[in-house]
Amino acid sequence: MENRENWGSRLGFIMAAAGSAVGLGNIWKFPFTAGQNGGGAFVLVYLFFVAIIGFSVMLTEFAVGRRRSLAAVGAFKSVDRRWTFAGVLGVLSGFLIMGFYPVVGGWALAYVFKVPMGLLNNPDTIGDTFGGFITGKTAPLMWMVVYLALNIAIVAKGVSSGIEKAGKILMPILFSILIIIAIKGLTLPGAMAGMEFLFKPDFSKLNGGVVLAALGQAFFSLSLGMGCMITYGSYLSKEENLAENAAIVTAMDTGVALLAGIAMFPAMFAFGMEPAAGPGLVFVVVPTIFAKMGGAGMMFATLFFVALTTAALTSSVSLLEVVVAYLIDEKKFSRVNAVLSSSAVMAVLCVLASLSLGGTGPKLFGFGSFDIFDLLTDKIFLAIGGMLLCIFTGWVLKKDELKEEITNGGKIAFPLFDIWYGLVKFVIPVTILLVAISGIMDGFKSGSGAIMVMGVIIIGIFAAISKKL
Ligand code: PHE
Repeated sequence: MENRENWGSRLGFIMAAAGSAVGLGNIWKFPFTAGQNGGGAFVLVYLFFVAIIGFSVMLTEFAVGRRRSLAAVGAFKSVDRRWTFAGVLGVLSGFLIMGFYPVVGGWALAYVFKVPMGLLNNPDTIGDTFGGFITGKTAPLMWMVVYLALNIAIVAKGVSSGIEKAGKILMPILFSILIIIAIKGLTLPGAMAGMEFLFKPDFSKLNGGVVLAALGQAFFSLSLGMGCMITYGSYLSKEENLAENAAIVTAMDTGVALLAGIAMFPAMFAFGMEPAAGPGLVFVVVPTIFAKMGGAGMMFATLFFVALTTAALTSSVSLLEVVVAYLIDEKKFSRVNAVLSSSAVMAVLCVLASLSLGGTGPKLFGFGSFDIFDLLTDKIFLAIGGMLLCIFTGWVLKKDELKEEITNGGKIAFPLFDIWYGLVKFVIPVTILLVAISGIMDGFKSGSGAIMVMGVIIIGIFAAISKKL
Protein backbone atom coordinates (compact mmCIF):
# COMPACT_ATOMS: atom_id res chain seq x y z
CA MET A 1 0.00 0.00 0.00
CA GLU A 2 3.00 2.31 0.40
CA ASN A 3 3.17 2.90 -3.31
CA ARG A 4 -0.50 3.74 -3.73
CA GLU A 5 -0.83 6.74 -5.98
CA ASN A 6 -1.68 9.92 -4.14
CA TRP A 7 -3.36 13.22 -4.91
CA GLY A 8 -0.87 15.86 -5.96
CA SER A 9 -2.27 18.48 -3.63
CA ARG A 10 -5.13 19.47 -1.37
CA LEU A 11 -6.83 21.53 -4.02
CA GLY A 12 -6.24 18.70 -6.44
CA PHE A 13 -8.34 16.33 -4.36
CA ILE A 14 -11.22 18.73 -3.83
CA MET A 15 -11.28 19.61 -7.48
CA ALA A 16 -11.24 15.96 -8.49
CA ALA A 17 -13.92 14.93 -6.00
CA ALA A 18 -16.03 17.95 -6.92
CA GLY A 19 -15.25 17.18 -10.53
CA SER A 20 -16.69 13.72 -10.03
CA ALA A 21 -19.77 15.11 -8.32
CA VAL A 22 -20.43 18.02 -10.67
CA GLY A 23 -21.42 16.71 -14.05
CA LEU A 24 -24.37 15.86 -16.21
CA GLY A 25 -26.21 14.98 -13.00
CA ASN A 26 -26.31 18.63 -11.98
CA ILE A 27 -26.70 20.39 -15.28
CA TRP A 28 -28.59 17.92 -17.44
CA LYS A 29 -30.40 15.60 -15.01
CA PHE A 30 -31.30 17.86 -12.09
CA PRO A 31 -33.29 20.46 -14.05
CA PHE A 32 -35.31 17.98 -16.09
CA THR A 33 -35.92 15.67 -13.14
CA ALA A 34 -37.09 18.63 -11.05
CA GLY A 35 -39.34 19.61 -13.95
CA GLN A 36 -40.85 16.15 -14.27
CA ASN A 37 -41.40 15.84 -10.54
CA GLY A 38 -43.34 19.04 -10.03
CA GLY A 39 -40.61 21.55 -9.09
CA GLY A 40 -40.43 23.14 -5.62
CA ALA A 41 -41.46 20.24 -3.41
CA PHE A 42 -39.02 17.91 -5.18
CA VAL A 43 -36.24 20.49 -4.81
CA LEU A 44 -36.92 20.89 -1.11
CA VAL A 45 -36.84 17.14 -0.43
CA TYR A 46 -33.70 16.85 -2.55
CA LEU A 47 -31.96 19.57 -0.53
CA PHE A 48 -33.01 17.89 2.70
CA PHE A 49 -31.58 14.55 1.53
CA VAL A 50 -28.36 16.19 0.36
CA ALA A 51 -27.78 17.87 3.70
CA ILE A 52 -28.64 14.94 5.95
CA ILE A 53 -27.94 11.81 3.94
CA GLY A 54 -25.63 13.04 1.18
CA PHE A 55 -23.10 14.75 3.41
CA SER A 56 -23.06 11.87 5.91
CA VAL A 57 -22.63 9.21 3.25
CA MET A 58 -19.88 11.17 1.55
CA LEU A 59 -18.00 11.46 4.83
CA THR A 60 -18.51 7.74 5.35
CA GLU A 61 -17.13 6.94 1.90
CA PHE A 62 -14.05 9.13 2.42
CA ALA A 63 -13.44 7.63 5.87
CA VAL A 64 -13.85 4.01 4.79
CA GLY A 65 -11.75 4.52 1.66
CA ARG A 66 -8.89 6.22 3.46
CA ARG A 67 -9.00 3.86 6.44
CA ARG A 68 -8.71 0.76 4.33
CA SER A 69 -6.50 2.38 1.67
CA LEU A 70 -8.38 0.27 -0.82
CA ALA A 71 -10.89 0.98 -3.55
CA ALA A 72 -14.56 0.11 -3.17
CA VAL A 73 -14.52 -3.68 -3.32
CA GLY A 74 -11.33 -4.18 -1.36
CA ALA A 75 -12.53 -1.84 1.38
CA PHE A 76 -15.48 -4.13 2.08
CA LYS A 77 -13.78 -7.42 1.31
CA SER A 78 -10.76 -6.81 3.52
CA VAL A 79 -13.05 -6.48 6.53
CA ASP A 80 -15.52 -9.29 5.89
CA ARG A 81 -15.88 -11.37 2.74
CA ARG A 82 -19.62 -11.55 3.19
CA TRP A 83 -19.69 -7.83 2.41
CA THR A 84 -17.79 -8.10 -0.88
CA PHE A 85 -21.09 -7.86 -2.77
CA ALA A 86 -21.69 -4.32 -1.53
CA GLY A 87 -18.50 -3.25 -3.28
CA VAL A 88 -19.14 -5.30 -6.39
CA LEU A 89 -22.60 -3.79 -6.59
CA GLY A 90 -20.84 -0.43 -6.92
CA VAL A 91 -18.75 -1.77 -9.78
CA LEU A 92 -21.93 -2.93 -11.48
CA SER A 93 -23.44 0.53 -10.96
CA GLY A 94 -20.33 2.02 -12.51
CA PHE A 95 -20.78 -0.19 -15.56
CA LEU A 96 -24.45 0.61 -15.93
CA ILE A 97 -24.08 4.36 -15.46
CA MET A 98 -21.26 4.21 -18.00
CA GLY A 99 -23.80 2.48 -20.20
CA PHE A 100 -25.67 5.74 -20.79
CA TYR A 101 -23.56 8.58 -19.42
CA PRO A 102 -21.20 8.68 -22.43
CA VAL A 103 -24.25 8.86 -24.70
CA VAL A 104 -25.29 12.14 -23.10
CA GLY A 105 -21.64 13.21 -22.88
CA GLY A 106 -21.50 12.63 -26.63
CA TRP A 107 -24.49 14.93 -27.14
CA ALA A 108 -22.70 17.66 -25.20
CA LEU A 109 -19.58 17.14 -27.29
CA ALA A 110 -21.61 17.22 -30.50
CA TYR A 111 -23.11 20.55 -29.48
CA VAL A 112 -19.64 22.05 -29.15
CA PHE A 113 -19.58 21.76 -32.95
CA LYS A 114 -23.26 22.12 -33.80
CA VAL A 115 -23.52 25.55 -32.16
CA PRO A 116 -20.84 27.29 -34.24
CA MET A 117 -22.08 25.47 -37.32
CA GLY A 118 -25.35 27.36 -37.31
CA LEU A 119 -27.61 25.70 -34.73
CA LEU A 120 -28.63 29.09 -33.35
CA ASN A 121 -29.63 30.59 -36.70
CA ASN A 122 -33.18 29.41 -36.41
CA PRO A 123 -34.28 29.39 -32.76
CA ASP A 124 -37.64 27.80 -33.53
CA THR A 125 -36.12 24.57 -34.79
CA ILE A 126 -33.62 24.05 -31.94
CA GLY A 127 -35.98 21.64 -30.16
CA ASP A 128 -36.69 19.56 -33.24
CA THR A 129 -33.01 19.47 -34.14
CA PHE A 130 -32.21 17.95 -30.77
CA GLY A 131 -34.99 15.37 -31.00
CA GLY A 132 -33.89 14.40 -34.48
CA PHE A 133 -30.26 14.16 -33.45
CA ILE A 134 -30.60 11.89 -30.42
CA THR A 135 -33.07 9.51 -32.05
CA GLY A 136 -30.79 9.14 -35.07
CA LYS A 137 -28.69 6.03 -35.54
CA THR A 138 -25.13 6.84 -36.47
CA ALA A 139 -24.40 10.44 -35.45
CA PRO A 140 -24.97 10.04 -31.68
CA LEU A 141 -22.99 6.80 -31.73
CA MET A 142 -20.07 8.48 -33.36
CA TRP A 143 -20.00 11.24 -30.73
CA MET A 144 -20.38 8.69 -27.94
CA VAL A 145 -17.31 6.85 -29.21
CA VAL A 146 -15.25 10.04 -29.31
CA TYR A 147 -16.41 10.90 -25.79
CA LEU A 148 -15.54 7.42 -24.50
CA ALA A 149 -12.13 7.61 -26.16
CA LEU A 150 -11.41 10.81 -24.22
CA ASN A 151 -12.28 8.95 -21.01
CA ILE A 152 -10.00 6.10 -21.87
CA ALA A 153 -7.13 8.46 -22.57
CA ILE A 154 -7.53 10.27 -19.23
CA VAL A 155 -7.96 7.19 -17.04
CA ALA A 156 -5.20 5.24 -18.74
CA LYS A 157 -2.77 7.99 -17.69
CA GLY A 158 -3.44 7.38 -13.97
CA VAL A 159 -4.78 9.27 -11.01
CA SER A 160 -3.11 12.56 -10.33
CA SER A 161 -1.81 13.43 -13.75
CA GLY A 162 -5.00 12.79 -15.68
CA ILE A 163 -8.02 13.44 -13.54
CA GLU A 164 -6.68 16.34 -11.57
CA LYS A 165 -5.68 18.56 -14.44
CA ALA A 166 -8.94 18.23 -16.29
CA GLY A 167 -10.96 19.25 -13.24
CA LYS A 168 -8.90 22.26 -12.27
CA ILE A 169 -9.23 24.22 -15.46
CA LEU A 170 -12.81 23.98 -16.60
CA MET A 171 -14.92 24.00 -13.43
CA PRO A 172 -14.62 27.75 -12.87
CA ILE A 173 -15.49 28.38 -16.51
CA LEU A 174 -18.61 26.27 -16.23
CA PHE A 175 -19.67 28.09 -13.10
CA SER A 176 -19.21 31.49 -14.74
CA ILE A 177 -21.21 30.61 -17.84
CA LEU A 178 -24.05 29.26 -15.73
CA ILE A 179 -24.15 32.57 -13.90
CA ILE A 180 -24.30 34.44 -17.21
CA ILE A 181 -27.15 32.23 -18.39
CA ALA A 182 -28.99 32.64 -15.10
CA ILE A 183 -28.75 36.43 -15.25
CA LYS A 184 -29.83 36.45 -18.85
CA GLY A 185 -32.75 34.14 -18.11
CA LEU A 186 -33.90 36.07 -15.06
CA THR A 187 -34.14 39.32 -17.03
CA LEU A 188 -36.53 37.83 -19.60
CA PRO A 189 -40.21 38.78 -19.28
CA GLY A 190 -42.21 36.15 -17.39
CA ALA A 191 -39.07 34.65 -15.83
CA MET A 192 -40.30 34.85 -12.25
CA ALA A 193 -42.82 32.07 -12.84
CA GLY A 194 -39.81 29.80 -13.33
CA MET A 195 -38.34 30.78 -9.97
CA GLU A 196 -41.70 30.12 -8.36
CA PHE A 197 -41.94 26.71 -9.99
CA LEU A 198 -38.48 25.82 -8.74
CA PHE A 199 -38.60 27.20 -5.22
CA LYS A 200 -42.24 27.41 -4.14
CA PRO A 201 -43.11 23.93 -2.92
CA ASP A 202 -46.51 22.55 -3.78
CA PHE A 203 -46.69 19.66 -1.34
CA SER A 204 -49.66 18.11 -3.08
CA LYS A 205 -47.14 17.02 -5.73
CA LEU A 206 -45.24 14.82 -3.28
CA ASN A 207 -45.60 11.05 -3.43
CA GLY A 208 -43.38 7.99 -3.02
CA GLY A 209 -42.10 8.29 -6.56
CA VAL A 210 -41.10 11.93 -6.18
CA VAL A 211 -39.34 11.29 -2.87
CA LEU A 212 -37.40 8.34 -4.32
CA ALA A 213 -36.50 10.47 -7.35
CA ALA A 214 -35.13 13.14 -4.99
CA LEU A 215 -33.12 10.55 -3.06
CA GLY A 216 -31.76 9.02 -6.25
CA GLN A 217 -30.88 12.45 -7.60
CA ALA A 218 -28.98 13.27 -4.40
CA PHE A 219 -26.92 10.06 -4.65
CA PHE A 220 -26.32 10.35 -8.36
CA SER A 221 -25.35 13.99 -8.24
CA LEU A 222 -22.97 13.54 -5.31
CA SER A 223 -21.41 10.40 -6.88
CA LEU A 224 -22.41 8.33 -3.87
CA GLY A 225 -23.53 4.80 -3.21
CA MET A 226 -21.22 3.05 -5.63
CA GLY A 227 -17.80 3.33 -4.10
CA CYS A 228 -16.60 6.23 -6.18
CA MET A 229 -15.83 8.42 -3.20
CA ILE A 230 -14.44 5.36 -1.37
CA THR A 231 -11.98 4.96 -4.22
CA TYR A 232 -11.12 8.66 -4.25
CA GLY A 233 -10.83 8.63 -0.45
CA SER A 234 -8.37 5.77 -0.66
CA TYR A 235 -5.97 8.06 -2.51
CA LEU A 236 -6.37 10.82 0.09
CA SER A 237 -3.59 11.84 2.44
CA LYS A 238 -3.82 11.17 6.19
CA GLU A 239 -3.49 14.88 6.91
CA GLU A 240 -6.73 15.88 5.23
CA ASN A 241 -9.82 16.89 7.16
CA LEU A 242 -12.42 14.47 5.82
CA ALA A 243 -15.52 16.22 7.17
CA GLU A 244 -14.42 19.55 5.78
CA ASN A 245 -13.70 18.02 2.38
CA ALA A 246 -17.08 16.29 2.35
CA ALA A 247 -18.83 19.54 3.27
CA ILE A 248 -17.05 21.51 0.55
CA VAL A 249 -17.75 18.96 -2.15
CA THR A 250 -21.41 18.60 -1.12
CA ALA A 251 -21.89 22.36 -1.09
CA MET A 252 -20.21 22.88 -4.45
CA ASP A 253 -22.22 20.14 -6.10
CA THR A 254 -25.52 21.41 -4.75
CA GLY A 255 -24.63 24.98 -5.61
CA VAL A 256 -24.05 24.04 -9.24
CA ALA A 257 -27.32 22.06 -9.40
CA LEU A 258 -29.31 24.98 -8.03
CA LEU A 259 -27.53 27.38 -10.33
CA ALA A 260 -28.35 25.13 -13.28
CA GLY A 261 -31.99 25.17 -12.18
CA ILE A 262 -31.96 28.95 -11.96
CA ALA A 263 -30.33 29.10 -15.37
CA MET A 264 -32.99 26.86 -16.96
CA PHE A 265 -36.43 27.44 -15.45
CA PRO A 266 -36.89 31.21 -15.68
CA ALA A 267 -35.89 31.07 -19.36
CA MET A 268 -38.17 28.09 -20.00
CA PHE A 269 -41.15 29.81 -18.51
CA ALA A 270 -40.30 32.97 -20.45
CA PHE A 271 -40.15 30.93 -23.67
CA GLY A 272 -43.41 29.16 -22.81
CA MET A 273 -41.78 25.72 -22.71
CA GLU A 274 -43.12 22.80 -20.67
CA PRO A 275 -41.24 22.21 -17.38
CA ALA A 276 -41.71 18.46 -17.81
CA ALA A 277 -40.10 18.57 -21.26
CA GLY A 278 -37.57 15.87 -20.29
CA PRO A 279 -33.96 15.07 -21.15
CA GLY A 280 -33.69 17.67 -23.92
CA LEU A 281 -33.96 20.57 -21.51
CA VAL A 282 -30.39 21.94 -21.41
CA PHE A 283 -29.82 21.15 -25.04
CA VAL A 284 -32.79 23.23 -26.05
CA VAL A 285 -32.96 26.00 -23.43
CA VAL A 286 -29.31 27.04 -23.53
CA PRO A 287 -29.04 27.39 -27.32
CA THR A 288 -32.41 29.17 -27.41
CA ILE A 289 -31.31 31.73 -24.82
CA PHE A 290 -28.07 32.42 -26.62
CA ALA A 291 -29.70 32.49 -30.04
CA LYS A 292 -31.33 35.73 -28.98
CA MET A 293 -27.98 37.37 -28.23
CA GLY A 294 -26.40 37.46 -31.68
CA GLY A 295 -22.70 36.75 -32.26
CA ALA A 296 -21.60 36.81 -28.62
CA GLY A 297 -24.39 34.33 -27.90
CA MET A 298 -22.81 31.80 -30.21
CA MET A 299 -19.51 32.13 -28.42
CA PHE A 300 -21.08 31.70 -24.97
CA ALA A 301 -23.15 28.73 -26.09
CA THR A 302 -20.11 27.02 -27.56
CA LEU A 303 -18.11 27.66 -24.41
CA PHE A 304 -21.01 26.31 -22.36
CA PHE A 305 -20.95 23.00 -24.18
CA VAL A 306 -17.16 22.81 -23.93
CA ALA A 307 -17.50 23.27 -20.18
CA LEU A 308 -20.42 20.83 -19.96
CA THR A 309 -18.42 18.20 -21.81
CA THR A 310 -15.51 18.70 -19.46
CA ALA A 311 -17.73 18.52 -16.38
CA ALA A 312 -19.18 15.31 -17.77
CA LEU A 313 -15.69 13.96 -18.41
CA THR A 314 -14.43 14.60 -14.89
CA SER A 315 -17.46 12.60 -13.68
CA SER A 316 -17.32 9.71 -16.11
CA VAL A 317 -13.61 9.41 -15.52
CA SER A 318 -14.43 8.74 -11.86
CA LEU A 319 -17.02 6.15 -12.83
CA LEU A 320 -14.55 4.38 -15.05
CA GLU A 321 -11.96 4.62 -12.27
CA VAL A 322 -14.17 2.59 -9.90
CA VAL A 323 -14.33 -0.27 -12.37
CA VAL A 324 -10.65 0.06 -13.28
CA ALA A 325 -9.51 0.16 -9.64
CA TYR A 326 -11.50 -3.02 -9.02
CA LEU A 327 -9.83 -4.80 -11.92
CA ILE A 328 -6.37 -3.61 -10.87
CA ASP A 329 -6.71 -4.24 -7.11
CA GLU A 330 -8.81 -7.40 -7.14
CA LYS A 331 -8.21 -9.01 -10.50
CA LYS A 332 -4.58 -7.96 -10.99
CA PHE A 333 -5.08 -6.32 -14.39
CA SER A 334 -2.58 -3.76 -15.64
CA ARG A 335 -4.06 -0.26 -15.77
CA VAL A 336 -4.14 -0.14 -19.54
CA ASN A 337 -5.80 -3.55 -19.83
CA ALA A 338 -8.32 -2.70 -17.15
CA VAL A 339 -9.26 0.53 -18.93
CA LEU A 340 -9.52 -1.06 -22.36
CA SER A 341 -11.50 -4.13 -21.38
CA SER A 342 -13.99 -2.31 -19.18
CA SER A 343 -14.59 0.43 -21.70
CA ALA A 344 -15.23 -2.14 -24.41
CA VAL A 345 -18.15 -3.46 -22.37
CA MET A 346 -19.33 0.07 -21.66
CA ALA A 347 -19.24 0.89 -25.36
CA VAL A 348 -21.60 -2.01 -26.09
CA LEU A 349 -24.02 -0.85 -23.38
CA CYS A 350 -23.86 2.69 -24.75
CA VAL A 351 -24.72 1.53 -28.25
CA LEU A 352 -27.81 -0.20 -26.86
CA ALA A 353 -28.71 2.87 -24.80
CA SER A 354 -28.29 5.29 -27.68
CA LEU A 355 -30.25 3.19 -30.16
CA SER A 356 -33.07 2.68 -27.65
CA LEU A 357 -33.86 6.41 -27.84
CA GLY A 358 -34.85 5.93 -31.45
CA GLY A 359 -36.98 2.93 -30.47
CA THR A 360 -34.50 0.32 -31.73
CA GLY A 361 -33.34 -2.65 -29.68
CA PRO A 362 -34.56 -4.84 -26.82
CA LYS A 363 -37.24 -3.68 -24.39
CA LEU A 364 -38.11 -4.85 -20.90
CA PHE A 365 -41.50 -4.05 -19.36
CA GLY A 366 -41.83 -1.38 -22.04
CA PHE A 367 -38.52 0.34 -21.24
CA GLY A 368 -35.52 0.62 -23.57
CA SER A 369 -31.89 0.18 -22.48
CA PHE A 370 -31.27 3.87 -21.73
CA ASP A 371 -34.17 4.01 -19.28
CA ILE A 372 -33.41 0.63 -17.75
CA PHE A 373 -29.78 1.53 -16.96
CA ASP A 374 -30.93 4.83 -15.51
CA LEU A 375 -33.79 3.35 -13.47
CA LEU A 376 -31.68 0.54 -12.03
CA THR A 377 -28.83 2.76 -10.93
CA ASP A 378 -30.51 6.04 -10.05
CA LYS A 379 -33.55 4.59 -8.30
CA ILE A 380 -32.19 1.39 -6.76
CA PHE A 381 -28.48 0.56 -6.85
CA LEU A 382 -27.05 3.86 -5.64
CA ALA A 383 -29.47 4.39 -2.75
CA ILE A 384 -29.33 0.75 -1.64
CA GLY A 385 -25.55 0.82 -2.12
CA GLY A 386 -25.46 3.82 0.23
CA MET A 387 -27.71 2.00 2.67
CA LEU A 388 -25.43 -1.05 2.65
CA LEU A 389 -22.37 1.12 3.20
CA CYS A 390 -24.05 2.75 6.19
CA ILE A 391 -25.06 -0.59 7.69
CA PHE A 392 -21.54 -1.89 7.14
CA THR A 393 -19.99 1.19 8.70
CA GLY A 394 -22.37 1.38 11.65
CA TRP A 395 -22.60 -2.30 12.49
CA VAL A 396 -19.42 -3.95 11.24
CA LEU A 397 -16.69 -1.33 11.60
CA LYS A 398 -15.62 -0.22 15.06
CA LYS A 399 -16.76 3.14 16.34
CA ASP A 400 -13.32 3.95 17.79
CA GLU A 401 -11.65 3.21 14.52
CA LEU A 402 -14.04 5.52 12.68
CA LYS A 403 -13.50 8.25 15.23
CA GLU A 404 -9.78 7.93 14.86
CA GLU A 405 -10.02 8.13 11.08
CA ILE A 406 -12.35 11.11 10.98
CA THR A 407 -10.42 13.08 13.60
CA ASN A 408 -7.03 12.12 12.10
CA GLY A 409 -6.08 10.27 15.25
CA GLY A 410 -7.44 13.01 17.52
CA LYS A 411 -5.53 15.79 15.78
CA ILE A 412 -8.66 17.57 14.54
CA ALA A 413 -12.08 18.02 16.10
CA PHE A 414 -15.33 16.79 14.61
CA PRO A 415 -18.00 17.84 17.11
CA LEU A 416 -20.78 16.26 15.05
CA PHE A 417 -19.24 12.80 15.31
CA ASP A 418 -21.98 11.28 17.46
CA ILE A 419 -24.76 12.73 15.35
CA TRP A 420 -23.08 11.46 12.19
CA TYR A 421 -22.62 8.04 13.75
CA GLY A 422 -26.27 7.83 14.81
CA LEU A 423 -27.40 8.86 11.33
CA VAL A 424 -25.20 6.29 9.65
CA LYS A 425 -26.03 3.48 12.03
CA PHE A 426 -29.79 3.96 12.33
CA VAL A 427 -31.49 6.87 10.63
CA ILE A 428 -30.10 6.67 7.09
CA PRO A 429 -30.58 2.91 6.54
CA VAL A 430 -34.16 3.06 7.80
CA THR A 431 -34.95 6.18 5.77
CA ILE A 432 -33.53 4.73 2.57
CA LEU A 433 -35.43 1.50 3.08
CA LEU A 434 -38.74 3.31 3.58
CA VAL A 435 -38.19 5.68 0.66
CA ALA A 436 -37.24 2.80 -1.62
CA ILE A 437 -40.31 0.77 -0.66
CA SER A 438 -42.73 3.62 -1.20
CA GLY A 439 -40.99 4.64 -4.43
CA ILE A 440 -41.18 1.11 -5.80
CA MET A 441 -44.85 0.85 -4.90
CA ASP A 442 -45.51 4.11 -6.69
CA GLY A 443 -43.45 2.83 -9.60
CA PHE A 444 -46.03 0.16 -10.27
CA LYS A 445 -48.43 2.90 -11.32
CA SER A 446 -46.08 4.06 -14.06
CA GLY A 447 -44.65 0.68 -15.02
CA SER A 448 -41.14 1.21 -13.65
CA GLY A 449 -41.90 -0.84 -10.52
CA ALA A 450 -41.03 -4.13 -12.18
CA ILE A 451 -37.59 -2.86 -13.25
CA MET A 452 -36.90 -1.61 -9.75
CA VAL A 453 -37.91 -4.93 -8.21
CA MET A 454 -35.56 -6.56 -10.68
CA GLY A 455 -32.80 -4.35 -9.31
CA VAL A 456 -33.57 -5.48 -5.77
CA ILE A 457 -33.45 -9.12 -6.89
CA ILE A 458 -30.06 -8.56 -8.53
CA ILE A 459 -28.75 -7.16 -5.25
CA GLY A 460 -30.14 -10.22 -3.45
CA ILE A 461 -28.34 -12.54 -5.83
CA PHE A 462 -25.10 -10.62 -5.37
CA ALA A 463 -25.46 -10.89 -1.60
CA ALA A 464 -26.06 -14.62 -1.83
CA ILE A 465 -22.92 -15.27 -3.86
CA SER A 466 -20.86 -12.60 -2.11
CA LYS A 467 -18.01 -14.87 -1.05
CA LYS A 468 -17.45 -15.92 -4.65
CA LEU A 469 -17.19 -12.36 -5.99
N1 PHE B 1 -22.14 12.76 -9.98
C1 PHE B 1 -21.99 12.62 -11.40
C2 PHE B 1 -22.85 13.68 -12.06
O1 PHE B 1 -23.57 14.38 -11.41
C3 PHE B 1 -22.35 11.25 -11.88
C4 PHE B 1 -21.71 10.16 -11.09
C5 PHE B 1 -22.48 9.27 -10.38
C6 PHE B 1 -20.32 10.05 -11.03
C7 PHE B 1 -21.91 8.28 -9.61
C8 PHE B 1 -19.73 9.05 -10.28
C9 PHE B 1 -20.53 8.17 -9.56
O2 PHE B 1 -22.86 13.82 -13.24
